[in-house]
Amino acid sequence: MTNLLRKLTWLLAITWAASPAFAADSFSYVGAKKCKACHLKEFTSWSETRMAKSFELLQPGASAEAKKKAKLDPGKDYTADPVCLACHTTGYGKPGGFVSLASTPDLVGVQCEMCHGPGGTFTQKENMSLTNKEYKKADLVKLGLVGEITKTQCENCHNPKSPFYKEFKFEERKAKGTHEKFPLKFKH
Ligand code: HEC
Ligand code: HEC
Ligand code: HEC
Ligand code: HEC
Repeated sequence: MTNLLRKLTWLLAITWAASPAFAADSFSYVGAKKCKACHLKEFTSWSETRMAKSFELLQPGASAEAKKKAKLDPGKDYTADPVCLACHTTGYGKPGGFVSLASTPDLVGVQCEMCHGPGGTFTQKENMSLTNKEYKKADLVKLGLVGEITKTQCENCHNPKSPFYKEFKFEERKAKGTHEKFPLKFKH
């Protein structure tokens, strides 16, 4: 590369990284398998929640009665329907997120990152890791970790755009829908 070209590329990289829109989009999704390696208890407990299995609802024949009532076609395959995928997969349409069942089978259902934030950067080993157990949470929040999970986070999906929307009582749903609270060992 010529010097001029190198300088231009560098300038472009800086301007890009400094733009807030890019910063937000630069946190990519990695999928629950990555988290499982260090958070087996949370993973196991999450696997038993209905959100973990929520992709299956898009298959033909699944929840046929409920679909009929909602005026959807119970015989139709909704597993490639962009409207449904936004709420039944992980990171749909975002960097590293769900694309299709064939190309990103590990990103089906509502996984960890839909509540905790896209982990592409905050799980890098200089950030959240077994060699940096005493990271400062505030630093990870700047890198995409959701600082405090509030009702708003859930309402990204639990809202009237869902054909099956039911009133959303945060505390009640949190108790049965996330995973048990396993206390952290370190202060962050
Ligand atoms: C290489 C190991 C590793 C990986 C991979 C990893 N974590 Fe962690 N995570 C940790 C450690 C260590 C802690 C601190 C545990 C403690 O203090 O007991 C932690 C803490 C957390 C916390 C608590 C944050 C806080 O300080 O309140 C959340 C939430 C979390 N991880 C989510 C995730 C998610 C989601 C993923 C996958 C996208 C993930 N982790 C991947 C090691 C990892
Ligand atoms: C805005 C987010 C959102 C969209 C869009 C969405 N869903 Fe859902 N879906 C949800 C949520 C949240 C629930 C759980 C409802 C509850 O318990 O409050 C759900 C529940 C369901 C259920 C279970 C219903 C039952 O009572 O058994 C089926 C089936 C389903 N969705 C299929 C679909 C299909 C098919 C589409 C596309 C046509 C779709 N969803 C679009 C968020 C969404
Ligand atoms: C539906 C949302 C949701 C999903 C999905 C989810 N979590 Fe959580 N997670 C929570 C909530 C809520 C808490 C409690 C802490 C809080 O309120 O911020 C929590 C807490 C944690 C903690 C910290 C425990 C503590 O003492 O604070 C870890 C670690 C964690 N989750 C990892 C995971 C991993 C790994 C996955 C996926 C295998 C996952 N979570 C999936 C909502 C979720
Ligand atoms: C990315 C979309 C998405 C997000 C974010 C999300 N959910 Fe869900 N949730 C769903 C879908 C889809 C279902 C349908 C699963 C089913 O009916 O089998 C569901 C089902 C549930 C259920 C099972 C239905 C029931 O009442 O037993 C609970 C509980 C729940 N969610 C709680 C939460 C909580 C609490 C949060 C926030 C901390 C949250 N959800 C965030 C998409 C989401």
